[in-house]
Amino acid sequence: MADMKINLCGVELNNPIIMASGTFGFGREMAAYNDLSRLGGISSKGITRNPRPGNPTPRIAETPSGCINSVGLENPGVEKFIERELPFMKSLDTGVIVNVSGSSVEEYCETVELVCAAGADMIELNISCPNIKGGGMAFGTSAEPAAGVVKEVRKVCTLPLMVKLSPNVADIAAIAKAVEGEGADAVSLINTLSAMAIDARTRRPILKQIMGGLSGPAVKPVALRMVYQVSQAVKIPVVGLGGVTTGIDAAEFMICGASAVMVGTANLMDPYSCVRIVDELNDYLDEMGIGSAAELVGTLMV
Ligand code: SIN
Repeated sequence: MADMKINLCGVELNNPIIMASGTFGFGREMAAYNDLSRLGGISSKGITRNPRPGNPTPRIAETPSGCINSVGLENPGVEKFIERELPFMKSLDTGVIVNVSGSSVEEYCETVELVCAAGADMIELNISCPNIKGGGMAFGTSAEPAAGVVKEVRKVCTLPLMVKLSPNVADIAAIAKAVEGEGADAVSLINTLSAMAIDARTRRPILKQIMGGLSGPAVKPVALRMVYQVSQAVKIPVVGLGGVTTGIDAAEFMICGASAVMVGTANLMDPYSCVRIVDELNDYLDEMGIGSAAELVGTLMV
């Protein structure tokens, strides 16, 4: 059996497979289906300083090989999260990542400070949500604001800091380098691609917000390309996501340079998918005679 353990920014994970933020809340619903200690980690739904009801519905549209969401960061706010949800996440024998979003630099800093005081394994700073007005992706689509928010958050963040990047940019490697330069410990990519779906008969958009973010197998080739480009450009670890539904998908991301892999939309199709993907990745490593998951990282032959 291959050694599946990996070290991500000093945090020992059981294996490289992490449940991605946004396709569940804080782990309780997924714990009903899975032994979450079988995973490398889970990343919470995006948390903001104050509670958010999210966007009006409809806010999910199924598309060929994917889905578009415009959820709008529905969450209970950081204080209720710390009181009601974080203790459950921390009771699981898996890596605990808290995904933090915001509309201003101050909001990001306050939320991160509170989470760090409460304790977790890692922060995932979400500068790539396409579904909120002001903030979110606005920080992640050019290097200067991305670097600016990371610089301020770094001052208050006592945990490993991973920054979640947007694919809705011309040069994702430049953004990755900018956040690395301000002290990010890792980057995760990709968040969703800006997209829309319409009904030709009603001539109306499916989503109330008109636009949302596309995820699922449809985006995997774009995500692989970006993970490869970013891993060539930075020295910090890259966590890859975008359409992973099998262990072979996870292996492809690792070959392109990802030290760990997140699984998102697959959870909506099959709530057991993450544990299956761990087993499939293990089988792949054994079949290929590769002794450890870490050995696979960045082995693309070009
Ligand atoms: C959302 O809540 O709108 C999705 C989160 C994200 O895309 O980062």
